[in-house]
Amino acid sequence: MKILIIGGGGREHALAWKIAGDDPGAELFIAPGNAGTAMLGTNLPVQAEDIAGIISWAKKEKPDLTIVGPEAPLCAGITNLMQAEGLRVFGPSKEAARLEGSKIFAKEILRAANVPTAAAEFFTEESKALAYLKTRPLPLVVKADGLAAGKGVMICKTLPEAERAVQETLTAKTFGQAGEKILIEECLAGEEISVLAFVDGHKAVLLPTARDHKRVFENDQGPNTGGMGAYSPAPVENAVFMETARKIIFEPVIAELDRRGICYRGVLYAGLMLTAEGPKVLEFNCRFGDPETQVILPRLQNSLIPAFTACIEGKLRPEHAAARLENCACVVMAAGGYPGKYRKGDVITGLERAAKLEGVTVFHAGTKSEGEKIVTAGGRVLGVTALGRDISGAVKKAYQAAGRIKFKNAHYRRDIAARQ
Ligand code: AMP
Ligand code: GLY
Repeated sequence: MKILIIGGGGREHALAWKIAGDDPGAELFIAPGNAGTAMLGTNLPVQAEDIAGIISWAKKEKPDLTIVGPEAPLCAGITNLMQAEGLRVFGPSKEAARLEGSKIFAKEILRAANVPTAAAEFFTEESKALAYLKTRPLPLVVKADGLAAGKGVMICKTLPEAERAVQETLTAKTFGQAGEKILIEECLAGEEISVLAFVDGHKAVLLPTARDHKRVFENDQGPNTGGMGAYSPAPVENAVFMETARKIIFEPVIAELDRRGICYRGVLYAGLMLTAEGPKVLEFNCRFGDPETQVILPRLQNSLIPAFTACIEGKLRPEHAAARLENCACVVMAAGGYPGKYRKGDVITGLERAAKLEGVTVFHAGTKSEGEKIVTAGGRVLGVTALGRDISGAVKKAYQAAGRIKFKNAHYRRDIAARQ
């Protein structure tokens, strides 16, 4: 079976690793991949955003299945375009991916489906937004409507901060078109959790939960990142919680989309805040999370291909997401300076010695091969991941492995899974 994976981060290495482990007959192609995926398949010199390049390769090579990692190609409609060529794709259509591509659309769906979420108002005019700010209690959250590479959400503790966020987004156009519309949202307090589900158009089957660590420094200090580490399961996970999340969040959202003629097939990721009033939706992503995928996939009992096929064919069953009892933790090793400007091209050593530890897998993100060497090529460089009987065992193993890996100015949080 010929499989194309689109993307080049830790998430895509984890997808390739899980498929290669369960389906040794699968022939993997990754666009563009990294030094980790190159050990499992063939990296293609095509970027994930190069839709025309991907379609042209796929028309010629006819993969049996394409798996889309990042949101940008999904929101740009890669699934629709590939399906029009008769190709099988795991990932929602352009219309369904708007759940991530437009926060206003997502909020409208949540409201129509009666799903708990933060109160919000939408604005296109600065004067109206500024006037509204004065009427609301602080802190407030200002959000760009469109995709802004994880930077479009601003938590504002003071009125001047909120005013600046509105002006920068609507008038200075810091986020370009993505910020032509904004949401001003109530700030929710509580613990965050990532709940991902396979969705087949009608049913949702929830994957094991995970918790991400978004801030760059320990104790949740410093700027937001793509995610500095994760663990699974989140402490709140139990059968009652999962059933509640399915019934009050996933099913009503899928049904509301269906009512509007939109069929959601793929992974749906709900970022939830566990508030005193119960779980509320912060955001949706139309794809696997990164680094959540690195801790969810090692916990899945069964192979991914039948699950992806079941999503595409509308035949999803609970066993497609059945989890092992072991826990999993991932520590992200980042390049010096990340999430700001960072260096590239530093040699990474100790990868083999780290992977020798039992239960450890080192997922590559921003890496590439240079001759015999593997060098840094991105902000998040590696996701050092370990399985263990419990979270503390898993995270201890992940740190032991991370300690064996060296590259210049590497940094990572020492408190992954410390607060449970
Ligand atoms: P997003 O870019 O939508 O993933 O949001 C980034 C982060 O902003 C989330 O993971 C939350 O930590 C935070 N956030 C988003 N919306 C809210 C809200 N209404 N209240 C508090 N925090 C929020
Ligand atoms: N880890 C957060 C995300 O994938 O959006």
